[in-house]
Amino acid sequence: MQEMSEKEIVEKTKVPATIESLRADLRALGVKPGMIVLVHSSLSAMGWVCGGAVAVIAALQEALGPAGTLVMPAHSPDLTEPSGWESPPVPKSWWPVIRENMPAYNPALTPTRSMGIIAETFRKQRSVLRSAHPQVSFCACGPQASRITNNHSLAFGLGEHSPLAKIYDLHGFVLLLGIDHGNNTSMHLAEHRATFPTKRIIQQGAPVSTSASRCWATFEDVDIDSSDFDRIGKSFLRSDAGHVVRRGRVGMADCQLMPQRNVVDFAVGWLEANRSN
Ligand SMILES: CC(C)(COP(=O)(O)OP(=O)(O)OC[C@H]1O[C@@H](n2cnc3c(N)ncnc32)[C@H](O)[C@@H]1OP(=O)(O)O)[C@@H](O)C(=O)NCCC(=O)NCCS
Repeated sequence: MQEMSEKEIVEKTKVPATIESLRADLRALGVKPGMIVLVHSSLSAMGWVCGGAVAVIAALQEALGPAGTLVMPAHSPDLTEPSGWESPPVPKSWWPVIRENMPAYNPALTPTRSMGIIAETFRKQRSVLRSAHPQVSFCACGPQASRITNNHSLAFGLGEHSPLAKIYDLHGFVLLLGIDHGNNTSMHLAEHRATFPTKRIIQQGAPVSTSASRCWATFEDVDIDSSDFDRIGKSFLRSDAGHVVRRGRVGMADCQLMPQRNVVDFAVGWLEANRSN
């Protein structure tokens, strides 16, 4: 997605969005009180919002009501095995330094990276819970927040013992707010579930704190790859299964709301049929 300055956003916006207008847009899209919604977002896609990220979160919480649960990714890819870093890679001689010195994951401190200002602002709000995974944590607020964030397994962090699997079990929804399926993290759950020839298990690592000190923990993970997620999303929308997707605008952002299990189940089948080499 092309990055836009706030000045450019102001110039393209006719009427600024407010908490009230965003709540109405979300309701029109199909966000209902009591839902569990995992949101992936881009603030700049929404046009100028009066109150920015804080207003978007307030609108989401109002649309969901007190019985609803709002969930966002809070991933922190700096806390990963440095030999796998790509953007940018770092010299091999730095790897041991990073493993030895990277500060341990602290749910109250570790910032998110590449999740956007809405997710980062949500992470810092009082009453928001964050799961314990050093790399792929999720934040949640609402009645199902502790169920979704508890017991996040270190190994296979986007798999069966992850917040994604809990959202699946609880019939939660995914809301893509101004972004497309390339960032639809729930497809990683499908990668864990699907069987395909190129699937690889790798050794991951991350700095974690134990009761006594900090250590570099190692654990197994699926070698995840989101490079075909946009294609999966397009196929999903074209398929019979895609009729469950509600499309509409929130502010100026093109949005999609869908039951998470439908997109995960579709992606499992797609990966098994298409990831062959
Ligand atoms: C990477 C990504 C976050 C970038 O989106 P973005 O809109 O450029 O960035 P943010 O959502 O952080 O919004 C900040 C931008 O909003 C704009 N902005 C600032 N104030 C604003 C306001 N009041 N109203 C609207 N836009 C505003 C600015 O352009 C700002 O960018 P700047 O800080 O560089 O000036 C987005 O493309 C994305 O991928 N989101 C999904 C992330 C995700 O869930 N990933 C999971 C994958 S596993």
